[in-house]
Amino acid sequence: MSLQNSPAWKALASHKQEIEGLHMRELFAADAERFERFSVRTGDMLLDYSKNRATEKTIELLTALAKDAGVAEYREKMFAGDKINFTEQRAVLHTALRQPESFRMQLDGQTVGCDIREVLAQMKHFCERILSGEWKGYSGKAITDVVNIGIGGSDLGPYMVTEALRPFAHGKVNVHFVSNIDGTHIVEALRPLNADTTLFIIASKTFTTQETLTNAHTARRWFLDKAVDESFIARHFVAVSTNREKVEDFGIDSRNMFRFWDWVGGRYSLWSSIGLSIALYIGFEKFAGLLAGAHAMDEHFLSAPYEKSIPVLLALFGIWYNNFFDAHSHAVIPYDQYLHRLPAYLQQLDMESNGKRIDRDGNRVGYATGPVIWGEPGTNSQHAFFQLLHQGPNFIPADFIVSLKSQNPAGEHHDILLANCFAQTEALMCGKTAEEAEKELREAGMPEERIAELLPHKLFPGNRPTNTIVFSEINPFNLGSLIAMYEHKVFVQGVIWGINSFDQWGVELGKQLAKAILPEIQGGQDAVSHDSSTNGLVNLYRSARG
Ligand code: F6P
Repeated sequence: MSLQNSPAWKALASHKQEIEGLHMRELFAADAERFERFSVRTGDMLLDYSKNRATEKTIELLTALAKDAGVAEYREKMFAGDKINFTEQRAVLHTALRQPESFRMQLDGQTVGCDIREVLAQMKHFCERILSGEWKGYSGKAITDVVNIGIGGSDLGPYMVTEALRPFAHGKVNVHFVSNIDGTHIVEALRPLNADTTLFIIASKTFTTQETLTNAHTARRWFLDKAVDESFIARHFVAVSTNREKVEDFGIDSRNMFRFWDWVGGRYSLWSSIGLSIALYIGFEKFAGLLAGAHAMDEHFLSAPYEKSIPVLLALFGIWYNNFFDAHSHAVIPYDQYLHRLPAYLQQLDMESNGKRIDRDGNRVGYATGPVIWGEPGTNSQHAFFQLLHQGPNFIPADFIVSLKSQNPAGEHHDILLANCFAQTEALMCGKTAEEAEKELREAGMPEERIAELLPHKLFPGNRPTNTIVFSEINPFNLGSLIAMYEHKVFVQGVIWGINSFDQWGVELGKQLAKAILPEIQGGQDAVSHDSSTNGLVNLYRSARG
């Protein structure tokens, strides 16, 4: 039976008709305890989901949908190492990376826990050597700068986390991230660095990604330009990959390789050795704290009933709005400057995972499978796109993420920041009625004529949902929990939509075509084999580059 014909889906569709006219103001007015009853805590995290267009019945119907879709069964399969990424014949076991030390599991003849511990020990030892200054660059000086070269999952996670955890930096090394094939990225990153104190981490699961390998070769040339002797490469280049052969082909000694496994998806890999740049930046112990926080969220996901499970609730509200209210975008607004890369990170996690229109049986789905994820930190975003959130015709749910403690207490900054965060969710929920707006204008002494003219522009419909996720502080443990929470949200949605959240075939076609176009750009003849637009653009560039 298709999802849309299932009784749970149909019940939600008719429930939507029932509550469409209901304003969240009324829900709050009718229930003084709504905040207490519609919020959940786990560890140091609180999810306030009271500002959603939902009654208790909505939660009941949504959790019934999760139950019917087999979320619990799929969750067991994922944690048990079943090959739920069936199009790539792979298990999905990033959760194993954050299991406690005693964890052991057999997968395809390997003892997964032992392998993980071995690599973690290698990372720890390496971090200690770099951070103590024992590991020397070719001139005998300690390493001061680490450049992570990777893209997608081999960049977004480590970059986001190191930015988020700047207050927890060990202090011995700076980290830099180079991902884009645009030469500007690497040229600008390398400009202030000294070759003799720089360590490059070439991070690529496959070690075949064009952008990463091109950047890695450029870094190698830059390095040799200064260091001259090829034998010095061993002290300045390490690799993180699943592909030993390709790492060796590149010229990196396999003793300087940190491995991981094909059961770790790229966008789920920051917990693996892909997190080496994180561990170097904050120190291995705090990296272990990040893993522990993620594990705590795994435990919550495994044990909490659906109506008390933070990732499940977020997933269900996402489906509620995406599929029943036609909300095709979802904003993520961290009220924390250090989390400025979180929306970009979540774009890959969410959209590369669930941007699929074919279900597990190979059929085309008849419903949306996820919104466009976007966002910027508050309060900057308030002065940019909040106009549309409040008064645009679009219906855009949002997550607000906030920490009660500032990492940089300065005067009343944090009070103002939080006042704005709470005010925005209140404004989105309550809106402003004609009576309220009219009263305000009249009190300001505005003439009746002008009031009539202005009034429609002064109204706020409200009834726009938000989730508020609160921590006492953003630290490695809590950040780990937050990321794992979003991973599980995406997983639950993928199960309900009946898609494989763990492959990414959609990125292949563009890569293939770029490989065909490159020799045409560099070759002796004008391109003729494409459509007229592509030929025209290729040839325009050919004549510009001469
Ligand atoms: O192009 C998409 C993708 O395959 C992502 O899924 C992945 O995170 C990224 O490329 C980088 O891949 P790799 O780590 O193999 O270089």
